[in-house]
Amino acid sequence: MSTWQIELDTWEDRADLHPEDAELVQCATRGLPLAHAPYSRFHVAAAVRLADGRILVGTNQENASYPVGICAERVALSTASSVAPGAAVVAMAVVYAPSGQISHKPLPPCGMCRQALHEQRGRQGQPFALIMAGTAGPVWKTPDASQLLPFAFSGEDLP
Ligand code: THU
Repeated sequence: MSTWQIELDTWEDRADLHPEDAELVQCATRGLPLAHAPYSRFHVAAAVRLADGRILVGTNQENASYPVGICAERVALSTASSVAPGAAVVAMAVVYAPSGQISHKPLPPCGMCRQALHEQRGRQGQPFALIMAGTAGPVWKTPDASQLLPFAFSGEDLP
């Protein structure tokens, strides 16, 4: 029998976050107005810190043909891969706000984004942290985002 464990740190008060994590959460929060979410009105922003210290932000981009829309996490990862090819992601912070309201609990990434986070970890050969937050309330952090998709399909499964 195999079992998987997910490491999750939680903070009730974001004032207790490490300053670098707090900065990443703040960058994501500032990116929320850049979301294009006229259909769900659910604004999501993801900020990635690269190994060279650069921070890049992605937001969800929806489409009238709903399945065409893309989540903030995958926009951020695609931006990093395009702007800084080969650069390792050190951490990602994801923040959301429905219709400009205050959100009070962290947002766990959707399944498709977990697959993309898992692939990024494989591409760069080292884990990176995922920080999840609302615009208020507690903050969660896993030191290895790929842990959110145990028993994952990957390129190694392809012939
Ligand atoms: N969304 C994200 O951007 N990230 C997630 O992890 C969950 C969902 C977006 C997709 C869609 O634009 C909106 O939130 C509602 O599902």
